[in-house]
Amino acid sequence: MSDNLRLSIVGAIYLVSAVLFILGLKRLTRVRTARAGNAMAAMSMLLAVVGTLIEIGSVDYRWIVGGLALGGAIGAFIAIRVPMTSMPEMVALLNGTGGAASALVALSVLWGAFIEPGAETTTAKLLTGPSAVTIGLSVFIGGITTTGSLIAWAKLQGKLKKGAPILLPGRHALNLLLVLGAIAAIVVFTAVVKGATPVAVVILVVLAIALVLGVTLTIPIGGADMPVVVSLLNSYSGIAAAMAGFVIGNNLLIIGGAAVGAAGIILTQLMCVAMNRSLVNVLVGGFGADAGSGGGGSSEYVGVTSSGAAEAAMILDVADSVMIVPGYGLAVAQAQHTVRELTKQLEARGKKVSYAIHPVAGRMPGHMNVLLAEADVPYEQLVELEHANPEMGNTDVAIVVGANDVVNPAALDDPTSPIYGMPIISVHEARTVFVIKRSLSPGYAGIKNPLFEAERTMMVFGDAKAILQEMSSELGEL
Ligand code: TAP
Repeated sequence: MSDNLRLSIVGAIYLVSAVLFILGLKRLTRVRTARAGNAMAAMSMLLAVVGTLIEIGSVDYRWIVGGLALGGAIGAFIAIRVPMTSMPEMVALLNGTGGAASALVALSVLWGAFIEPGAETTTAKLLTGPSAVTIGLSVFIGGITTTGSLIAWAKLQGKLKKGAPILLPGRHALNLLLVLGAIAAIVVFTAVVKGATPVAVVILVVLAIALVLGVTLTIPIGGADMPVVVSLLNSYSGIAAAMAGFVIGNNLLIIGGAAVGAAGIILTQLMCVAMNRSLVNVLVGGFGADAGSGGGGSSEYVGVTSSGAAEAAMILDVADSVMIVPGYGLAVAQAQHTVRELTKQLEARGKKVSYAIHPVAGRMPGHMNVLLAEADVPYEQLVELEHANPEMGNTDVAIVVGANDVVNPAALDDPTSPIYGMPIISVHEARTVFVIKRSLSPGYAGIKNPLFEAERTMMVFGDAKAILQEMSSELGEL
């Protein structure tokens, strides 16, 4: 095959791959099209690998096939085994591997230059162009993403001080010093040092600073804010990949990396808006360090009314409209199919049933949508926060299933509460509220919820799945 033909084929494959990747990302924005979007993006990545191999031409395919088989097997094993509740942890780890891969690509380009004959000249040539800056940035951003993601994983797993913020004394000054140190090292790397050994030493300094920064920037951030951090690290891994694309002169990697970088930062911003927090406020950390104080008030509850599933079923039997508000507990209890069964039963009795979805309910963006889609809940039944709240005053019964922070009225009326200003689903306005959870324990923000002691609220204590099943069978008897 002539070189021209080969490059034309590669160009066409890259074009198709880039278009598939962007269309795949677009389809991921809707639950209905997300599966197809995921398949398109995966196909685009496969095409990218094939195109790159054709472009490089002579490679030792044993390594490539071995890598594909090993990586594919590990990926499939993890993806099949991971429970829905641990998905954020898995995303955190995948971001980390993305960052590490980008840093390794940049380091390997440098290493390749060192071991070639006449290393001094090749390295000097490599470091004169813009690729020197991109090597430095790829190692820097990739390094931060790697250790930052590992810390995010450990926090989400509760393995690091149960996810609580770890506040080192003088951490802001330390982080500033590390960032300035890394910038200085990248400048030295690109503009000052020339020989192979000094270049290697300086780039390893950049890597070491980046690995430490990933830890020091992430440990002060509380577990509750980890999904935002994971999304931000996802954006970083995209930027690191784009930088690696510049290093090896691969346009597709630049396009893919830039798209992931942009998508990650947009998602980060959307989450911050949904929690009424600024990104700076999240990144400075410390949120939840004094959790448990319940904002300004005590975390003791007075006058809590509880009811059993039978009583709840009787009230549901006479209700006309029911709004279900799912939260993290729905995921823990894996009660999505049970809640769907109860909904069908209520609908068969002529009741209007809908689900009010808070944008940050659960532990990852779209968590509730994914769970309910798994149970075939029709999309039309899902109502977003801004449309659910105006209907709440006319709703007979609101059933809160394992949600806590996202229905906490302290966000509206307690300026001392750490979640003050966060938009919530106003279940307290419904005529009757059932809150299904196992105890009066706080949610992720670690604060008291005055909803539990409100006059119209009845707590139904127990595991969400078991309670919903009981409600269903009690309703069936009426
Ligand atoms: P949470 O406030 O975390 O409350 C979940 C509740 O579920 C807990 O109070 C727990 O109470 C209950 N629960 C756990 N297992 C249960 C089971 N098997 N059966 C019944 N109940 C169970 O959840 P939420 O209301 O969904 O709020 C999400 C929180 O995560 C918010 O603070 C939000 O800001 C934060 N966050 C989310 C995201 C995204 S993207 N989703 C991003 C950043 C932060 P018991 O232990 O008493 O049962």
